[in-house]
Amino acid sequence: MKIFIDTADIDEIKEACSWGIIDGATTNPTLIKQAIEKRGGRVSMEDYIKEILKTVPGPVSLEVIALRAEEMVEQAKLLYEKFSPYGKVVIKIPINPSMGGDGLDFDGLKAVKTLSKMGIPTNVTLVMTPEQALLAAKAGATYVSPFAGRVDDYIRSRLKIGFKKEDYFDYNLLNRIAEEKFKMMVRGRSESISELYLSETTRMFFENVKDNGILSGVDLVRSILTIFRNYGFTTQVIASSMRNARQVREVAELGVHIATLPFYVIKEMIQHPKTLEGIRKFTEDIVPSYAQIFREII
Ligand code: E4P
Repeated sequence: MKIFIDTADIDEIKEACSWGIIDGATTNPTLIKQAIEKRGGRVSMEDYIKEILKTVPGPVSLEVIALRAEEMVEQAKLLYEKFSPYGKVVIKIPINPSMGGDGLDFDGLKAVKTLSKMGIPTNVTLVMTPEQALLAAKAGATYVSPFAGRVDDYIRSRLKIGFKKEDYFDYNLLNRIAEEKFKMMVRGRSESISELYLSETTRMFFENVKDNGILSGVDLVRSILTIFRNYGFTTQVIASSMRNARQVREVAELGVHIATLPFYVIKEMIQHPKTLEGIRKFTEDIVPSYAQIFREII
């Protein structure tokens, strides 16, 4: 699995790249805003992006800001031509740029199709369903970015489950609870199977713990990978909007091509209390004669 860093903060990018584990980077307007605000707004944006590209040893996703297909294509060409001399540019296109009722729902796909024909690589972003990912792949997307964390946020928010952004979403536990509650609810009820099937209460029971059949962000990634493998799509899946190390493990188990990770998630991945305890004990137990061996280089 490739690891991209999901930030526009050059300090974080440089540090993570020095660890030897970074294969690319993803940015978006929000991440750029955060990075620029951290520097008090005193940044030449073009130089800043060039520095990111020169630092990252792989694709860097830069997002267009237009919402209409023709404008997105023009912006994509500009970003690609301006920044390609400094690194490997990938253009981020929203799967559905419509703000509602403006008829722009398919403009992202149209732009992807045009850019794909021009040989400009695309990363289709804000993907929340397997269906959206399927459409993006059909249009010729190089990458799709399912936002796993935001789907988890959505399911938990609808259920009014309080959570911190970095909390692991235990969707298996949630579904086990739902199954047990369901059994308790139908036990002793006299309706027929078809009546229970049609009853609003029983129907909604499992729907509430899912997003239109999707159990979690990890389940979204699983579904997209299954669909792409079924049909041999070459579009690569970037597990995005990642919130914690356990979620990274789960998408890695699925065989996702890439996970794009915030700096804090990568830092969480290296930690374990027994590793800390172990290194402390090993350091404490060094006998002088063993340390002597290293004397000439220390
Ligand atoms: C992906 O490319 C996006 O930049 C990112 O993963 C969004 O993550 P968020 O939901 O934490 O903002």
